[in-house]
Amino acid sequence: MKALRYGIVGGGFISAFQLRALAQVRGIEVAGLVSRRPPEQLAAYVREHGLGEGRVFQSIKKMAPHVDVIAIFAPNFARVEMVEEIVDAVKSGAQLKGVVCEKPLARNMAESRRVVRLVEDAKLPHAYFENQLHMKSMQVHRAQLEPIMQSMGAPLLTRSAEEHAGPHNPWFWDPTRQGGGVMSDMGCHCLAVGWHALTPPGKGVRFLEPQSVMADLSLLKWGQPRWRQQLFDKHGVDYARTPAEDFATGMVTYKNPETGQRVKSQFTVSWMYDKQGLRLALDGIGPGYAFELNTLRSPLEIFIGDAAAASVSNAELALEKSQASRGLLAVQTNEADLYGYTDENEDAINAFTQARAPLLDWHYGVEIVRLTMAAYLSAERRSTADLTDPATERELETYVPLIQQGRGGQVL
Ligand SMILES: NC(=O)c1ccc[n+]([C@@H]2O[C@H](COP(=O)([O-])OP(=O)(O)OC[C@H]3O[C@@H](n4cnc5c(N)ncnc54)[C@H](O)[C@@H]3O)[C@@H](O)[C@H]2O)c1
Repeated sequence: MKALRYGIVGGGFISAFQLRALAQVRGIEVAGLVSRRPPEQLAAYVREHGLGEGRVFQSIKKMAPHVDVIAIFAPNFARVEMVEEIVDAVKSGAQLKGVVCEKPLARNMAESRRVVRLVEDAKLPHAYFENQLHMKSMQVHRAQLEPIMQSMGAPLLTRSAEEHAGPHNPWFWDPTRQGGGVMSDMGCHCLAVGWHALTPPGKGVRFLEPQSVMADLSLLKWGQPRWRQQLFDKHGVDYARTPAEDFATGMVTYKNPETGQRVKSQFTVSWMYDKQGLRLALDGIGPGYAFELNTLRSPLEIFIGDAAAASVSNAELALEKSQASRGLLAVQTNEADLYGYTDENEDAINAFTQARAPLLDWHYGVEIVRLTMAAYLSAERRSTADLTDPATERELETYVPLIQQGRGGQVL
């Protein structure tokens, strides 16, 4: 079978990570790359690793006729214009088999509805990339516990967390461009993984019905004068004027539509986790059983003493968003696989080549945006957002959080 030709949009952090994943996946080649600045380094990586031609194009429109799938790995603020350009290319004759979008699907409901309408009108198959559902630790714990869940019942409570010390580029910190702070950036992961881990085996990813969201958002570290100044000096973002949350926590309640039973998923995300580096954690409790995962645990430990520390050049070789280059380091040998990037690409490739649905499509992405918006609404109003209330449902369709509007000072 001919390899599926990917065309990647965006030449930054996630594209580099995804290339490490794609090197482990069969049936795909990276035919094209587009970014604001020509992504020559990524193109060289593609060719060095035998991943494909890795041709750099000037625009999505120019790349579209030469690829089968376009993967949007670019910043959140450019989603709508990029999907418009992809759809224009299809209307001009580009024969795409699918389009992929990294999380989050969009910054708010209006944008997410717009991108879904565009791809559906163009009859373009779509896959939403939420890597955490594809993590092998997710797949394996669910397979292992399946017979137990069948006899005892699905989990009743999950607690998910994603934390690191803060993003790598200015646009993430700017709530108007990114969509908010850490809730918009990483809350989407925890909402998704918590929901999935609660879902009874054999049921679809949207089987459990969201009932309510209660959230609390705060600016704990990066609003303090010393850290605010550091943020301004490093990224040019001023949290005295346009702050965003660096910590968010909350609870989503779901209903099982067959039994009426209510189950809960608690989430915590932060950009102020001054520990070794990125940590994804999830635990779940069912009647008579439990599971727990933590990506900072590894069978490999490395210790680097002060005397040797000067020779360490790149701490991120050990772990994403690494905070230290000496001492006892947390090291992961295959982060692209650990975090689910390999399996999400395999799922998309199989879906697009076999004309079947991927695990997650953009309609699912819209649901995650809806839960994220409900979390902002809840925190703004200091009350639980009731998703069964038609008035709340209507309000969320046009709601833009104050933080996303650049008016975070009113709520943080
Ligand atoms: N799944 C995950 O865990 C994960 C991790 C990181 C990022 N992401 C998502 O991936 C996306 C990109 O994030 P990133 O970390 O790679 O950001 P980044 O800032 O590292 O890179 C963004 C890239 O896009 C390019 N770009 C900017 N505007 C563009 C435009 N209008 N047209 C074309 N290219 C443009 C930039 O030049 C840069 O190369 C975001 O939506 C983010 O939420 C997901």
